[in-house]
Amino acid sequence: MAYTIDVHLSPEEVRNQMRADALQGLQGDTKSIPPVWFYDERGSRLFEEITQLPEYYPTRAERALLEAHAAAIAGLSKADTLVELGAGACDKTRVLLTALEQAGVLTRYVPFDVSDEFLRSAATTLSQEYEALDIHLVIGDFHQHLAQIPSDGRRMVAFLGGTIGNLDPAQRARFLFDLNCTMSSEDSLLLGTDLVKDPGRLVAAYDDAAGVTADFNRNVLHVLNEQLGADFDPDNFRHVALWNEEHQWIEMRLRAEGAAEVSLAGAGITVRFDEGEDLLTEISAKFTPERVERELSDAGFVVEEMWGAEDGEFLLSLAHPYC
Ligand code: AVJ
Repeated sequence: MAYTIDVHLSPEEVRNQMRADALQGLQGDTKSIPPVWFYDERGSRLFEEITQLPEYYPTRAERALLEAHAAAIAGLSKADTLVELGAGACDKTRVLLTALEQAGVLTRYVPFDVSDEFLRSAATTLSQEYEALDIHLVIGDFHQHLAQIPSDGRRMVAFLGGTIGNLDPAQRARFLFDLNCTMSSEDSLLLGTDLVKDPGRLVAAYDDAAGVTADFNRNVLHVLNEQLGADFDPDNFRHVALWNEEHQWIEMRLRAEGAAEVSLAGAGITVRFDEGEDLLTEISAKFTPERVERELSDAGFVVEEMWGAEDGEFLLSLAHPYC
């Protein structure tokens, strides 16, 4: 076998979590469902399509930073192990793997994700490209299984794509603190965050002309229909993207065009939507470099270097735990 895999999350546990999120998010006055449920196979494909859209700049901006600075990042981290949180299709990984390999210390790659759907085939391909690399997949959840990631060696933990912005400030603080607790002072964290910019550009990135993001947004309803036996009519929900100035985040919502009663048989509930009522499906927080530094520092990290901070579109930060 070309890789090893540890599974800490079964399909049943994933479904149980989704049910708990539906019970919690759909029964109150304001309805929401966490963005993690966008990513079934179709959702992951739609996200890949989003990354190619002219309006969706973050993926290109981050990739350009990685390409320009991978050697510096590898030289500073001196990691023998690259851990990638939310690895997905592992496509930005090659830039880092190659730089770490050229720095001469890399022995292991540990992609971590909630689903093995894309990880297995990506791991097979990578094992052919990097023959000497020990590839160790970990399937788990950010909130429960960070401590199950192999912790020996000198690690660089990469959390890219701006995905940390999908957490609200309290969740981010918790996540960064939990992560910090699993890291040694030799380890480093490479964090990708999207930066605050003109709201027009931000909103366009989440409301593209071709409507791919709208389909991606509505996909969560298909996922709920499939996994929880719900009967959402996705055509009754309109994609809405807006900039929340107060919280400095993009919100994606699904707005019921007509009143609806939706049954979620697998969760044992029926949910009523008024005409025009919103379901909040994602926040995507945008940062200033100062804010990233403050949140990292509050969680016990020292920033070693930032790339993209001077009038960039996107920011990469390399940090390590205090000690
Ligand atoms: C991959 C989670 C970072 O928040 O920008 C893309 C997901 N949502 N378009 C983001 C997403 C709408 C994306 N992340």
